[in-house]
Amino acid sequence: MTAVIDLRSDTVTKPTPGMRAAMAAAEVGDDVFGDDPTVNLLEARAAEAVGKEAAVFVPSGTMANLVALLTHTNPGDEVILGDQSHIFQYEVGGVARVAGLVTRTLANLPDGTIDPAELRAAIRPETIHSPGSRLLCLENTHNRCAGAALPPAAVGELAEIARRRGLAVHLDGARIFNAAAALGVTAAELAAPCDSVSFCFSKGLGAPVGSVLCGSREFVARARRFRKLLGGGMRQAGVLAAAALYALEHHIERLPEDHKHARRLAEGLATLGPFRPLPPQTNIVVVEALEGRVDDWIAAFAAEGVLAVAFGPGRFRMVTHLDVSRADVDEALTRISRIVGAAHR
Ligand SMILES: Cc1ncc(COP(=O)(O)O)c(C=O)c1O
Repeated sequence: MTAVIDLRSDTVTKPTPGMRAAMAAAEVGDDVFGDDPTVNLLEARAAEAVGKEAAVFVPSGTMANLVALLTHTNPGDEVILGDQSHIFQYEVGGVARVAGLVTRTLANLPDGTIDPAELRAAIRPETIHSPGSRLLCLENTHNRCAGAALPPAAVGELAEIARRRGLAVHLDGARIFNAAAALGVTAAELAAPCDSVSFCFSKGLGAPVGSVLCGSREFVARARRFRKLLGGGMRQAGVLAAAALYALEHHIERLPEDHKHARRLAEGLATLGPFRPLPPQTNIVVVEALEGRVDDWIAAFAAEGVLAVAFGPGRFRMVTHLDVSRADVDEALTRISRIVGAAHR
C-alpha cells in the first residue's frame, strides 16, 4: 500500500505525540465560567504573540472572523473586503446571513493587497440613502493569492486609510506566523495597524482544533458574548487549548521548513511540462494546469496517493505542513512525474 501524501491543506496534520501528551495532562475548568486555567493561559500567550491586550479562544477560523464581524459592526453596516478573501469566498456568506452586513468587495491584487486608491474611493459615510462603511478586512497570508505574505507597510497603508475615515480594521491572520516567517518580521508588527486579528492553531501550527480572536480588552469582552451567541462557548476546552499552547511553543520556529518544501515542490512541478506553479512565498503552492482538466489531474494524483484540491478555474492547490517531509515532497514529485509521463505516452 503506497503511503498517502496529503497536500490538500495544512489543516490535515495529526497531533504529534508531544502535543497529545500535553492534551492528556491539561488542567481544565469550565471556560464559559472563565475558569479553565489552560484556556486562560493560551489566551494570554496568544494575545502577547500578536501584540494585543486580550484574546478569546474559538473553535475555528471561520468563527473567529464571524465574531470579529459581529463585534465591530451593527446589522446593515458595510464591510469592505477583498474579492478573493476567505471571508467572502469560503465562509458560507456568514457575513450577510449572520452578521447582516453589506459586502463591498474590491479586487485583490496578486500580492494579496488592495489598491489603496480603490479603497479610498470605496469608503462611504452613512447617509439617509446609503449604509456606512464600518469595517475593512484584510488577510495575511492570503490563501487565494497563493499564500502571499503582505508586508507591514502594505497592511499599514491600507489600515491607515480605513482608520482615518473611521473604519475599524480586522486582519484574518489564519496563517499570520507563516507571513511573519516569510517576511522576517514579528506577527505583532503585522497586526499592529489592525484593531483585531484572528489566527488559527489548526493550520501551519499543527493543532487539531482552534483559533483565536485578539484585540483590545474591551473588544474581546464584547466578542465573548458573540462567541456565546454562535455556540462557541466551550467547557473543559483546556484539553484543546493545551494542544494550541504546545503548537505556539513548538511549531512556529519550524514554519520556514514548510516554506522551503513548498519552493522545492513548485520548482519540481515547473520542470514537468503541464504545470505552471505561482512562485510560493509561504507554504501554499497554487498551480496552473497548462494542459488537461484540473479535475482529471487531481484524480490521477489521488490514484497515486498524492492529494491536492481544485482552486479556481484551471488551478489546483498543494500545501506543505508539519506532516510533509522533504522526502515526501520528492516522492510526490516522482509520482506526479510518472503520471505526466503516462499522460504524454
Ligand atoms: C485565510 C483563512 N481564513 C480563515 C479560514 C477558516 O478557518 P477554519 O477552517 O478553521 O474555519 C481559513 C481556512 O482555511 C483560511 O485559509
